[in-house]
Amino acid sequence: MCGIMGYTGDRDAKDILIGGLKKLEYRGYDSAGIALAADGTIEIFKDEGKVAVLEKQLDQAMEISKTGIGHTRWATHGVPCKKNAHPHRAGRVVLVHNGIIENEKELRAELDRQPISDTDTEIAAILLDTLYNGDPLTAIFQAIKRLEGSYALGILFEDQPQTLYAVRKDSPLIVGRGNGENFIASDIPALLEHTRQYYLLNEGEVAVLTKERITFFTADGQQVNKEVLTAEQDLQSAEKGGYAHFMAKEIHEQPEAVQATVSRYYKDHTLFPGEEFNIQGTIRIVACGSAYHAGLLGKYAIEKWARIPVTAEIASEFRYNDPILSKEDLIIVISQSGETADSVAALRLAKARGVPTLAIVNVWGSTLAREADRVFYTAAGPEISVATTKAYTCQAVLLYLLALKLAENELACEKIAALPSLLERVLEQGEQCRALAQKFKQAHRLFFIGRGQDHALACEGSLKLKEISYIHSEAYAAGELKHGTISLIEEGTPVIALLTDRERFSKTLSNVKEVKARGATVLAVTYENADLAGVADDILTLPPCSDLEAPMAGAVLLQLFAYYTAVERGNDVDQPRNLAKSVTVE
Ligand code: M6R
Repeated sequence: MCGIMGYTGDRDAKDILIGGLKKLEYRGYDSAGIALAADGTIEIFKDEGKVAVLEKQLDQAMEISKTGIGHTRWATHGVPCKKNAHPHRAGRVVLVHNGIIENEKELRAELDRQPISDTDTEIAAILLDTLYNGDPLTAIFQAIKRLEGSYALGILFEDQPQTLYAVRKDSPLIVGRGNGENFIASDIPALLEHTRQYYLLNEGEVAVLTKERITFFTADGQQVNKEVLTAEQDLQSAEKGGYAHFMAKEIHEQPEAVQATVSRYYKDHTLFPGEEFNIQGTIRIVACGSAYHAGLLGKYAIEKWARIPVTAEIASEFRYNDPILSKEDLIIVISQSGETADSVAALRLAKARGVPTLAIVNVWGSTLAREADRVFYTAAGPEISVATTKAYTCQAVLLYLLALKLAENELACEKIAALPSLLERVLEQGEQCRALAQKFKQAHRLFFIGRGQDHALACEGSLKLKEISYIHSEAYAAGELKHGTISLIEEGTPVIALLTDRERFSKTLSNVKEVKARGATVLAVTYENADLAGVADDILTLPPCSDLEAPMAGAVLLQLFAYYTAVERGNDVDQPRNLAKSVTVE
């Protein structure tokens, strides 16, 4: 979603803002802008399109500005265009915003100024300017009492050209501490070139930054001291490292990411050392997108091995379904970013009802990580490409380890521990996936089918393909096809059949024969020596592995297939249209 970068110090603010915004491009956006403050004026430059488009305008920027804010916008209120791009100005106030002001309509009716844009953000700027009497902090505290919804705001006041203000609620924002300069940013990669030291802002907290000093206040105006943190990720992690795309790099980082995740939770032949679980009720896994698909795998594995009832639910549904929860349940919320608005809301709902919560999260210190009763971090490292790859695989691995822990089956862990070398072998099949991508790239629609864990894999493979290739794709439980969907199968309809689960092989095979009989072109993903003669037109074979390892190995193959299909179609692989890396609005 939107990206925010702010700077105050002695250097040229414009260069630092542009550099930071480029590092935040991965979040997904459709317009960009910066505001530069100096000598009682604030200049705004903004436009639809990429940061590179904005950069071309900056020749006209003021010579020296040492304080400024920048923004990449992912449109929610109003189409992507120059007028709606941030920063927004109202009188002496200029601000950038990530989130949604939910009471925008009421405020719009109440404030007697006509906004120029269609955005909710401009209403927040008008509100602040209305409340501003020369004391920025008082105006901010008053404004946040009126604003409903989610916001991370970077704010400049025209008559305070060397001070940067920030506040957040339900939207991510961090504060970077430099040497004689300070920063705000939506995420760590934007800071790394300048500093590793940063602070997390709690809900409703306000930060005031000058070049020498950062002061923090709680929402009710109390000054607070905060612990400075050190970012562990290196600069290279935000670079492509010789790959054409972040997605390719991240696909290839999976053996290492899985290794790091396994070693964190399986030490000296012991699973989750020091962790105890006593689940008398149901495990309810809640997540969005790919994290939900990892949850489907988790449900399959925990129920199969530990015989504990598990549900896997989509967070945006769960939060509004008034779920029937018991204090004996365990809510597991899964998220790469730890900031997904619906997942955060689901966690808060569970906590409010006194149900124990566990977050499986990749980003250290993210909202879910901070608010859950317990956190298990995946060790995937920073993931930049919008399409998740290594974070998904690590989520699945962690859930399988958890399933084995709950089943008190530590023996099978050796198989999970061997996964990194298995994934290395899967990665050797890149060329085969590329050749198949050439064959399938013209498809207008296709189907993924599978049973059991292969159904979860089908859901993930299908999402991965459609989000970056823009080919319409549907995932189906193989046995469900004949209850309606099979009517769509005709001569040449591509069907990707997942047959990696030996227990269900013959059942799925029957379904594959049914679609084949109706003219489907079948690509089968299966294990070694599986007998598919006369049924599959093409086969991708997993290296020798057990059923326990197959969903991770299969996921990597399908990621490669999706990646090459998107490349063949000439798409923007890392930043697919309309998508954001971290969905911080509901
Ligand atoms: O950060 P999260 O894991 O909570 O994100 C959830 C989904 O938005 C995410 O998995 C999305 O579906 C990916 N683009 C899929 O590749």
